[in-house]
Amino acid sequence: MMKPTTLVAIVLSLLVSSIAMAENVLPQYAHDKSLGVASCSSSLCHGSIETWKDSNVLQNEYVTWIRTDKHSRAYAVLLNDRSKDIAKKLGLKEPAHKSALCLDCHAHNPAPAQHGEKFTISDGVSCEACHGAGERWIKSHVELKATHAGNLEKGLYPTENDVARVQLCLSCHLGTQKKFVTHRIMAAGHPRMSFELDTFTQIGPAHFRIDEDWHKRKGSWDGVRAWAIGQAVYSQELLGLLLGPRGRDGLFPELVLFDCHSCHHNMSDKRNTAARVGAGPGIVRINDATFLMLRQIAKRIDVKEAAELAAAVSAMHHAIADGNDGLQKARIVQDSITKLIPKISAHRFSADDLRNIMIGLIDEGLDGQYGDYQGAEQAVMAVQSVADFMGRSGMLRTVTLRADLTRLLALVANDEKYRSASFEQALRALKSSIAKGSVK
Ligand code: HEC
Ligand code: HEC
Ligand code: HEC
Ligand code: HEC
Repeated sequence: MMKPTTLVAIVLSLLVSSIAMAENVLPQYAHDKSLGVASCSSSLCHGSIETWKDSNVLQNEYVTWIRTDKHSRAYAVLLNDRSKDIAKKLGLKEPAHKSALCLDCHAHNPAPAQHGEKFTISDGVSCEACHGAGERWIKSHVELKATHAGNLEKGLYPTENDVARVQLCLSCHLGTQKKFVTHRIMAAGHPRMSFELDTFTQIGPAHFRIDEDWHKRKGSWDGVRAWAIGQAVYSQELLGLLLGPRGRDGLFPELVLFDCHSCHHNMSDKRNTAARVGAGPGIVRINDATFLMLRQIAKRIDVKEAAELAAAVSAMHHAIADGNDGLQKARIVQDSITKLIPKISAHRFSADDLRNIMIGLIDEGLDGQYGDYQGAEQAVMAVQSVADFMGRSGMLRTVTLRADLTRLLALVANDEKYRSASFEQALRALKSSIAKGSVK
């Protein structure tokens, strides 16, 4: 039986998640003052070396962040030679570490009026860049009577909510209308960016522990659901960028929104694009990696909507290439994903769902849908997340997959060395290991 308090907590968390479905103000644009990492990092607060036994959070979050989380070094990156070179090639008036163009993502960069006493830009992607400006919650969040809902009201950002969390991550890992890495910035030397919520949460590394107590305070956490929502919101945001003012660069569409490797590869490297959904010889496709994943996810949620979505995505690719109202078609895809997101949020992924998603991903690959690198890269992160979950829920002896996963990872480690034929071979091996390792 569920305890009444647990039930109340779940109802509350559902309320909180429906609130979070509305647009959340990203921490950078909050009206409260940001207080700086020095306000969180004392050894009596979140800067303990050891985790505390009698606290519901770890208390060593600062130590994890400063030692191993790349976000703590995001500002320092702007001082290195690569950044200097990028700034020079772009002809920026200020150096990278003074330019808002770079600081908006490589640091927590609220307007000067919102800088508290200990705020310093060199903190990089600081606690408040994700958790929200601390002015109103810093004191009260440690009081015994503090509740999560109360903290949210005072400006804490709802990082526990999948949709709100991935919107936050993507504001820097994909970009928004306000901050963005254009194809020009990439061509000046910025690395290509990719993102997958579940994988990136784990390699962060996580400075939090999802346990009974977390569930009680913050609701449910499900890695596969996070992966699925991450794919849907990514697709949504990508289309939003295409449809907004960022979607153009002179006569051309903004190339960064398209599949890099549909242009960047050797001419002798034939990719048989004609076999692929929404493609044809010589067509430049919008980066469809997350749409490919979404196809598997949608099938588990609603078969009819999945078919509609697939048709809409295919029509969009063709319309963009043919110049027939591609943007109108992109809007139709957007609407279809908007309907899907709350359904994914409410879905409980069963063992059957996981197995079918896994096989679906592999079969798409064998059908030649990951001919270009970015689809393959997303597929590997997806396969890893789903395999991990299948292992933990006892559906699969994970050891049996370790060699296959390592091989897949190696095949996508370098986009310039990616070969779809070897990738398909590795998928075939994975499929047979799954058949052997399945615990029925
Ligand atoms: C929209 C957000 C965004 C903007 C704007 C942005 N970056 Fe980045 N940058 C990122 C992210 C995210 C990464 C990490 C990518 C990854 O590893 O997946 C990154 C990575 C980098 C790296 C490689 C870091 C490393 O550890 O090797 C450099 C160098 C860099 N950025 C410099 C710049 C410079 C210079 C500017 C301004 C001209 C800039 N960035 C603007 C988000 C951004
Ligand atoms: C890149 C974004 C990001 C940064 C930077 C970040 N966090 Fe977090 N933090 C998260 C996410 C995501 C969670 C997990 C979801 C949740 O519990 O709300 C989390 C959870 C937490 C939790 C709560 C764990 C629980 O059980 O409720 C604490 C405490 C915390 N972070 C402290 C910090 C501190 C202190 C810093 C700075 C040293 C920091 N975080 C920096 C994203 C971030
Ligand atoms: C304010 C901008 C910003 C936000 C918000 C943000 N990131 Fe980042 N993230 C960056 C930048 C910039 C880098 C690159 C830092 C570097 O290379 O030194 C980065 C790097 C990373 C890396 C390391 C990637 C690698 O190649 O090793 C991971 C993992 C990551 N972020 C996960 C997340 C997750 C998960 C979230 C959301 C909870 C998030 N980030 C939110 C800006 C941001
Ligand atoms: C529609 C085709 C197209 C797409 C899609 C595309 N690019 Fe490009 N890219 C170009 C062209 C054209 C140039 C300019 C080539 C030149 O200067 O010789 C270029 C230049 C570059 C350069 C500089 C190369 C140099 O010689 O200095 C980089 C880096 C780059 N692109 C990265 C990317 C990334 C990353 C993506 C995907 C996010 C991408 N491109 C998507 C066509 C494309």
